[in-house]
Amino acid sequence: MNAYDKFKAECAEDIVAQGKDGKLKHLSGAWFDRSHAMKYSYHFEWMGRPIIQYPQDIVAMQELIWSVKPDLIIETGIAHGGSLIFSASMLELNALCGGPSDAVVFGIDIDIREHNRAAIEAHPMTHRISMIQGSSVAPEVIAQVVSRAKGRRKVLVCLDSNHTHDHVLAELKAYAPLVSLGSYCVVFDTVVEDMPAEMFPDRPWCPGNSPKTAVMEYLKTHPEFSIDYGIDDKLLLSVAPGGYLKRIA
Ligand SMILES: C[S@@+](CC[C@H](N)C(=O)[O-])C[C@H]1O[C@@H](n2cnc3c(N)ncnc32)[C@H](O)[C@@H]1O
Repeated sequence: MNAYDKFKAECAEDIVAQGKDGKLKHLSGAWFDRSHAMKYSYHFEWMGRPIIQYPQDIVAMQELIWSVKPDLIIETGIAHGGSLIFSASMLELNALCGGPSDAVVFGIDIDIREHNRAAIEAHPMTHRISMIQGSSVAPEVIAQVVSRAKGRRKVLVCLDSNHTHDHVLAELKAYAPLVSLGSYCVVFDTVVEDMPAEMFPDRPWCPGNSPKTAVMEYLKTHPEFSIDYGIDDKLLLSVAPGGYLKRIA
């Protein structure tokens, strides 16, 4: 075994151990709930655009985009564009390092605010970005994405729009089939299921009606996907526990 493989084997053992550590998990959950109440995820930027994510998930996405080397990323939920710029910048780096040179990211949002669109279109990464305005579950939007995904070799999907059960389940049915073997469908905000209901007083989603309930429903009839719990055990702090779905068949 070479030095890198030996190091990774040790890491793998440590990750399993930390995933089983009840105290660390409890502390992580308590820290997560408290930080969520402070709108922690709103306080970061990627290449100058606000990205509404926890840094741990951003690092996990970097690892996935590097290892999968997608030539298409489909993202629902653009907001200020930070995650779109992040994905585009990772595709740019992949291309510089021998990955697909024509890789692009499609972003879908029901409401692309003019100032956000202008900033995304003026960004140095804009040449890798296409935006579609409309509901991610509208048949005409789905048809457009499916048609533009034709011929793409490795597709990765990120769902981060409306976080209700019905909406996420509809997104999974529409977009998960596009995910390539070995790639991922990442369902953000599954953590809603694990948090106190009173943390979402002004949202249509809550425990029992969340991205995680949608994932569980979808997986009942889709054994071609499997939850990558290794990512959860590694991150511990994540908005997507049980939401990193790997296509295994
Ligand atoms: C959490 S934000 C996305 C954050 C972004 N992915 C990031 O990491 O910076 C959710 C976005 O989903 C959009 N949205 C809500 N309902 C939607 C729908 N039905 N279809 C598409 N986008 C929707 C909202 O307009 C909002 O911009």
